[in-house]
Amino acid sequence: MLQDNPKLSIILPTYNESQNIVSIIELIRENIPKGIHTETIVVDDNSPDGTGKIVDEYVSNIKKIAENTINVIHRKTKNGLSSAILNGIQNAKGETIVVMDSDFSHPPQIIPKMIEVFKQYHCDLVVASRYMTGGNIQGWPTKRRLMSKIATLIAKKGLGVKTKDPMSGFFAFKKNVINGLNFDALGYKILLEILVKTKGINIKEIPYTFENRKLGSSKLDISTIIDYFKSVWRLYKNGKNNTIDEKSNSIKFMSKAARFFTVGASGFIVNYVISTLFTSGLTELWYVHANIFGIIASISSNFILNKIWTFEDRDFSTKKIFSQYGKFSLFSSIGAIVQLGMVFWLVDSYDVLYPLALISAIGIAAFSNFILNKKLTFKEKLWN
Ligand code: GDD
Ligand code: MN
Repeated sequence: MLQDNPKLSIILPTYNESQNIVSIIELIRENIPKGIHTETIVVDDNSPDGTGKIVDEYVSNIKKIAENTINVIHRKTKNGLSSAILNGIQNAKGETIVVMDSDFSHPPQIIPKMIEVFKQYHCDLVVASRYMTGGNIQGWPTKRRLMSKIATLIAKKGLGVKTKDPMSGFFAFKKNVINGLNFDALGYKILLEILVKTKGINIKEIPYTFENRKLGSSKLDISTIIDYFKSVWRLYKNGKNNTIDEKSNSIKFMSKAARFFTVGASGFIVNYVISTLFTSGLTELWYVHANIFGIIASISSNFILNKIWTFEDRDFSTKKIFSQYGKFSLFSSIGAIVQLGMVFWLVDSYDVLYPLALISAIGIAAFSNFILNKKLTFKEKLWN
């Protein structure tokens, strides 16, 4: 069955590309050299404009063209370009993979040229480049050109990347060169990650002209830019260390624990401020009632900070928030009771000095709280 053995996989990430997707699929088909069995993988993030459905319908209506399959990966929510590409790659069966945009910025006419270059130079990665003789950009405003130039400069100077257009979203590679690599797949820059994390692979660049899209709009926004800086920073810090080793695991664990304790300390301040505020001028509540408000406020602020900062959890669905908040408050209360019991036990039965007993009890309660919340509230593995 030829159909199940594609040589070439083309990854087409889509988010709100209803006006482009079918025509780009067709133009790609026209440009793939005859005799090369190809699969096109559309990775759609549940586009509100129905892109995913349009492709499904298109696929079910066309006659199966020999040597050509189209697969659609439907993801639940918008999760970023790089992660969509990575998802496509993980499902790709071809030995060669082409990554490109679905908005006609990347001319499919370049694909046969890429394949030619693979053959001619026996290389592992071919980058379609805007920043070399013969390459160009059309239709971008100065601001966007400048941003791209700056990002490119950062990659070259900061990470020592030699490729002329490391920001390109149009490239092809032999699937085996990324075997065993771990990707962050943050933001837009999956190519940059591949360039930094692979060792000693043979790279060629060929020029092309990037044409700004005619239909639909760019999804690049401020969060993409923030993700870029994050991703450069991580690549810089970890260098070519792509395998998760014990060391980086323990660093991750410790830094999360440190954040968790910092949040705890901030909660203490919130608790104190709110409790005194409610007993004094503001409401003149009975101090026990005031303290209840203080406790609720500090648990809530701790929860929010730990969710966003400590555990970097980005799922803000109401259901999730409620269940996490419930667990978090439960563990906080258990922690408080354990702490109280331990202080009493240490002072009463072992004559430990009160400050010392307090410090150890807080330490132990905070640490077990960290473990419980890491594992059960935010569903992380304990180690990694
Ligand atoms: N599935 C999915 N999920 N697809 C996405 C997402 C996402 O979160 N965000 C963007 N896409 C798809 C778009 O539908 C499009 O096909 C492609 O990814 C590129 O997105 P654009 O929003 O059109 O990017 P751009 O044109 O501003 O940026 C281009 O230039 C950069 C170089 O400066 C792209 O080619 C980038 O890949 C490239 O790095
Ligand atoms: Mn685009």
